[in-house]
This record gives sequence, structure tokens and C-alpha cells, in this order.
Amino acid sequence: MRSNALSDRPKPPSVYAAAYDRVAIGTHWLVALLVVAVALLGLTIPEMPRGSAGRELVLLLHRSIGLLIFAAMAFRVGWRLFHKPPPLPPSMARIEVFLAHASHVVLYLLFLGMPLTGYVNAAAVGHSVSLFGIVAIPPLLAESARLSQIAIALHLSGQFLVYLFVALHLAAALVHWLVRRDGVIERMLPLRRVG
Ligand code: HEM
Repeated sequence: MRSNALSDRPKPPSVYAAAYDRVAIGTHWLVALLVVAVALLGLTIPEMPRGSAGRELVLLLHRSIGLLIFAAMAFRVGWRLFHKPPPLPPSMARIEVFLAHASHVVLYLLFLGMPLTGYVNAAAVGHSVSLFGIVAIPPLLAESARLSQIAIALHLSGQFLVYLFVALHLAAALVHWLVRRDGVIERMLPLRRVG
């Protein structure tokens, strides 16, 4: 029988079995989707004329999706405390394991910190932040124009860290998938083949 190139490819080791649980996988892909949306909306904001209805809508969607990211990440942190992620393959060097963990911590901090600085920017000048026009989160801190300015400066510069670390995350994923073929990607896929 003629073999085909795909079936000849070495199968990743049984790391398939040691996958993330469904909640961790679900929240990972949900946040990935929301982050793409929030960044695209964020980049659209400066293109819209100040005070226009279009800008207000883009801002509402940007802020609301940002708040959803915060909620999903806070939930993910809580979930992770009680559900240990599967170990990385022993073929990875200690420094690689360290860099993987460190970059994940940075991503957690960014996806919690970006919404927080966005919220503080509004709250510190006495504005509440609306979630899709359904509920409004009131300002929970004392008014301070200076704090608001610091928050938006951190928010606007933080975006570049988001691009950098998301790019590194994707690059690492591609290396595991296409070069190493060590099953690391399969741990986070919703529809895994077992065996
Ligand atoms: C992970 C979540 C978030 C990410 C990645 C993100 C990213 C961005 C980006 C890329 C921009 C465009 C910056 C530019 O003009 O070059 C932006 C602008 C902005 N973001 Fe966010 N954002 C997030 C969450 C939030 C939240 C939750 C709020 C408010 C509650 C918020 C409020 C704002 C505001 C007000 C601006 C516009 C600043 C201005 O130009 O006037 N963001 N954000």
C-alpha cells in the first residue's frame, strides 16, 4: 500500500493525554478572540473624529470587550489555582520551561493590567464604564486627573507589550507545532486526536 506523507509524519508522543482541561482551553481561545477584537477596535479609535457617534460606539465596544477580557482572565487565574496545567514535555530545556512560564505570567499581567488602566483612566475623572450599555461600573476611586493621565499613558504604551508578547507566544506555538512536533500545541486544541 502506498503511504502518504501525512501518515508518515512522526506522531507526537503521548503528551496528547496530558492536555489542559476544557475550561482552560475554552477560556484560552475566548480570550485570544477577544484580544484580537479589542486591539482592532482600539486601533480604530484614533481614526474616528472626536465626539462622533461612530467613535462613541467603537469606544463602547472596546471598553466592554476589555472588561470581558478582565473577567475571563480573573476567572482563569482562579481556575488555575485549583487545576494545575499539565507538565511540559521533558524534552524542553530548563531555560525554555522558565521562559515559557515567564511569558505566560507577562500575558496574564497584561490582560489584567490593560483593562485596569483603561478603567482607571475613566474612573479617576469620575466616569463610569458601561458594559455594552447594559450595566455601568461606577468609579471606585477618588478623582485624580493625574492618575487618569498616568493610567492612559500606561494603557497606550502597554499595547506594544501586548503585540510583542502575543507575537512571541505565537512564534513559540509555531516552533512547537511545525519544528519540534512535541505535542505542546495539541494540549491546547479544542478537538484533539487521541493516540
Ligand atoms: C486587554 C484589554 C485591552 C487592550 C489590549 C486595549 C488596547 C488598546 C489599544 C491598542 C488602544 C489604541 C491606542 C492608540 O490610540 O494607539 C486603546 C485605546 C483606548 N483604550 Fe484600551 N485596551 C483594552 C481594554 C480597555 C478597557 C477595559 C478600557 C476602558 C474601560 C479601555 C479604554 C481605552 C481608551 C479610552 C482608549 C483611547 C484612548 C484615546 O486615544 O483617547 N481599554 N486600547
